[in-house]
Amino acid sequence: MKNNFAKDFWWGASSSAFQIEGAWNEDGKGKTVADHNAFQKADVQADTQVASDFYHNYKEDILLMKELGLKTYRFSISWARIIPDGDGVVNQKGIDFYNDVIDFLLENDIIPFVTLYHFDLPFALVEKYNGWESRESVFAFERYAKTCFEAFGDRVIYWQVHNEQNLMIRVDIRMNLYDTPSDQIEKVRAQMDYHMFLAHALATNACHEMLPNAKIGPAVSSTMTYPSSNRPEDVWAARMNDNFKTNYALEMHCFGEYPGYYKGYLEKCNIYPETKPEDAEILKVAKPDFIAVNYYRTLVASYLPVDEAHPFGTKVNDIDFDLYGYFKHEKNPNLVATDYGIQVDPMGLRLVLNDYYEKYRLPMIITENGLGTGDQLTEDGKVHDDYRIEYLEGHIAACNEAIADGVELFGYCPWSVMDLLSSRQGFMKRYGFIYVDRDDFDVKELRRIKKDSFFWYQDVIKKNGLN
Ligand code: BG6
Repeated sequence: MKNNFAKDFWWGASSSAFQIEGAWNEDGKGKTVADHNAFQKADVQADTQVASDFYHNYKEDILLMKELGLKTYRFSISWARIIPDGDGVVNQKGIDFYNDVIDFLLENDIIPFVTLYHFDLPFALVEKYNGWESRESVFAFERYAKTCFEAFGDRVIYWQVHNEQNLMIRVDIRMNLYDTPSDQIEKVRAQMDYHMFLAHALATNACHEMLPNAKIGPAVSSTMTYPSSNRPEDVWAARMNDNFKTNYALEMHCFGEYPGYYKGYLEKCNIYPETKPEDAEILKVAKPDFIAVNYYRTLVASYLPVDEAHPFGTKVNDIDFDLYGYFKHEKNPNLVATDYGIQVDPMGLRLVLNDYYEKYRLPMIITENGLGTGDQLTEDGKVHDDYRIEYLEGHIAACNEAIADGVELFGYCPWSVMDLLSSRQGFMKRYGFIYVDRDDFDVKELRRIKKDSFFWYQDVIKKNGLN
C-alpha cells in the first residue's frame, strides 16, 4: 500500500516515571500511590525501587533512543519528585533531573513529549485529603502543572495532562479506594473523576496562558466494542460500553460537560458530584489541542436485560456498566489471543482513529500501543521477538490506512521504549524494543540489549513507514 506518513511524522516510543525510573525515594522524591501499590505486591513481583533504573542511566538510554532513530520520546514527570508531599515545597533536585533529561533529549534531536500525571499521585495527598476526593488536590495539581510549565516550558512544547483518566478511575487501587465502604464507593469515585476533569481543565488553561506556543491534550485509554450480533440491543450494549468507558471522558475534555447518558447515570444512582458555579467556565474554556490515543485491544459485548439485582444495569468485571442494561463480555472468535489474553486487532485501531476524528476533529497521536510478552534472552545473547514485529507492523499499517481515510495522525509512540515495570505483571511481561536484563527478584546488572524489534523499528523510521 502507498506510504501516507508525512515527512515530519513523529516516530516515537513511550514510558512512564514509576515504571522506568526507579530511585523511588532518592534526591527528595516522595512516595506515590504507584509506589504504595507496588510495595503491596513486592512478594510476587518487582516494585518501583529500581524498575529499569532510568534515573541513573538516562544518558545511556537516550543514546539508545537516538540510535533507534526516535523523533520523540513520550515520558511522564513524577509529581512527587517535583513536590514530594503534593502541595508543599518544590524539590529543586527533581527539577534538575528532568532538566537534564529534557536537555539531553534535545541535544540528541529527540522531541520531549511530557505527561504530567501517569498513575502516581503523591501519597501524602491520600493521607491528607483522600486524594482526588478533595478539591484541595485539584488546586495542588494546578500548582504542580504551573511549576512544570515554568521550569520546562521554554523547551517542552507538547504536554499531556493525565494518562488514561478514564481507565484509572475504574481501578480502585489506582484511586486509593482501599477501604471505602461498598455503598459509598461509586459516589466517591464520581467525585474523584469530576475533580480530575477540573484539574485537567485548569492545567490546560494555565498551559495556554503561560505558554502560547505549547500544545496540550488528554491521553485516553481507547475502547472499541463490537456487538456480539446484529441484534439491535447488542449494538446498543456495545455503543454504551464505549460511551461509558471512553467517550464520556472525551466529551468532558473537549466540550466541558458530561453527555446526557452520563448525567442520567450519575443522577439515577444519586452520585452526582459536588460542583461549584465557577467550574463551568473553567471546563468550557479548556479546549485540547490534540487527542493522544492509547490502544491495545477491542472488546465484544452482548446485552443482558435489567433485572431486580441490576436496576440501573450493573458492572460486569469491574469497569462495565450501563444505565439500561448490563453486558456480557465475550471473546471474539475472529481474533487471535496472545500470551496475556489480549486479542490482536489492528483494524480496531483504524476504527478508533476514524471514530475519534469524526467526533472531535482534532489532530491525534498514538501514545501507547504494544505487545506484552515474556520475552526470552536466548543463548546467542539476543531477543528474537518476531511476534512483536508482526504486531507492530499490523498496527502501523492500520495507521497508514487511517491517514488515507483522512485522520490527522501526527505520531506513533509504541509502548514501550524499553522493558519496564508492567503495572500488573512486573518484569514477567515485557513490551520494549530494548531488553533490560533483570527479573522480578534479581536486578542483575540491568544490561540493555537491543531486541530484533529494535532493528526492525529503526528501519521503519529510516524508511518513514513500512515501505
Ligand atoms: C496502559 C498504561 O494502560 O497499559 C501503562 O498507561 C501500562 O502504564 C500499559 O503499562 C500496559 O499495561 P500492563 O498492565 O501490561 O503494564
